[in-house]
Amino acid sequence: MSIEKIREDIDGIAAAQHSELLSGAWWHSIDLGEGHVTAGVHKLEELCDNYSRFDLPQDLSGRRLLDIGCWDGFYSFEAEKHGAEVVAVDCWRPENFFKAREALRSKVEFHDLNVYEVTRARLGSFDIVFFLGVLYHLRHPLLALEQVCEVTRDFAVIESHVIDNVFPTEHPVMEYYEFDELGGQYDNWWGPNLECLTRLTRSAGFARVEILRREPTRATIKAHRRWDDKPETVSADVRIRDVLNAVTIDYRFPRRGRHAFLMILAAGLPPQARRWEVRVEMGGFGIHPIYVGPSGNPQHAGLTQINVPVPPGLDLGKTNVCVWHEGELSNDFEIDLVEGSQW
Ligand SMILES: C[S@@+](CC[C@H](N)C(=O)[O-])C[C@H]1O[C@@H](n2cnc3c(N)ncnc32)[C@H](O)[C@@H]1O
Repeated sequence: MSIEKIREDIDGIAAAQHSELLSGAWWHSIDLGEGHVTAGVHKLEELCDNYSRFDLPQDLSGRRLLDIGCWDGFYSFEAEKHGAEVVAVDCWRPENFFKAREALRSKVEFHDLNVYEVTRARLGSFDIVFFLGVLYHLRHPLLALEQVCEVTRDFAVIESHVIDNVFPTEHPVMEYYEFDELGGQYDNWWGPNLECLTRLTRSAGFARVEILRREPTRATIKAHRRWDDKPETVSADVRIRDVLNAVTIDYRFPRRGRHAFLMILAAGLPPQARRWEVRVEMGGFGIHPIYVGPSGNPQHAGLTQINVPVPPGLDLGKTNVCVWHEGELSNDFEIDLVEGSQW
């Protein structure tokens, strides 16, 4: 057989494979190279535009990234193209994902998992997590956000349906869909407004939320695990005097579950310091206090009591806690984290 004939045959097989590949129902348009783009419900330009608005570094090499609810995998493959080591998760095995992965000779690792099963113990942790278009499909959105937070080291990009067009209010509200009220689909459960999405995300353990995109029915946020205003030097005035478990009032510190709350007792904070002005950091992760004020215990007179949940995803063992207020950073105070309850 001549070389030309072999080439023709290979081209024929490749063309047949490509037409097979391009047929079928695609959610994402994915560029498979050589001008072959899958005919997704979402066009390539739209998906590329969405990705560009995540405001990610061009070069993601050395970064580990998790894409939860990947479907056909556009965002996983795009992040991989930028150099990230990518793990993709969905609660079923999307056939097209595997076709695209093969066509792209991609190394994205796939796990068939429910988002509630996404844990550090199972997958490790990730610099960046994508949680795009999944939240409103979930019966337990706050629990899912806690799992997202547990595996996020740096930030998560969270995209969701929102109801700001239906309830134009700055109050945090969420609409419940008992049947198929949202889009005629049986698997849509909750529609938060952007304020509610932001608060749920912080409440799940993220330090701060940046709004990347706000539209009447969709929003994209970047949820950061670190504060962006940590002072470089320790103040002589602000001192953590003691840390107790805020629930059990003892020195046992579970890293998760219903007893995973700290009571920090600090000297040197002004009595007028407000909850939203005081920053807490634990094991490198920022977290919001849920109470800042005087202690009811006369033994702690003159100290400020700061109650704060333990942020998800910390290692067991020695962990440093510090606080700051208006540029005044405390000492590091060491506590010993032990295993806690699941819930
Ligand atoms: C609207 S699609 C979004 C796909 C993709 N992330 C995007 O933004 O284009 C929702 C995806 O989330 C997945 N999903 C829904 N519930 C899930 C769950 N409990 N755990 C993991 N993935 C889930 C669906 O299978 C689907 O692939």
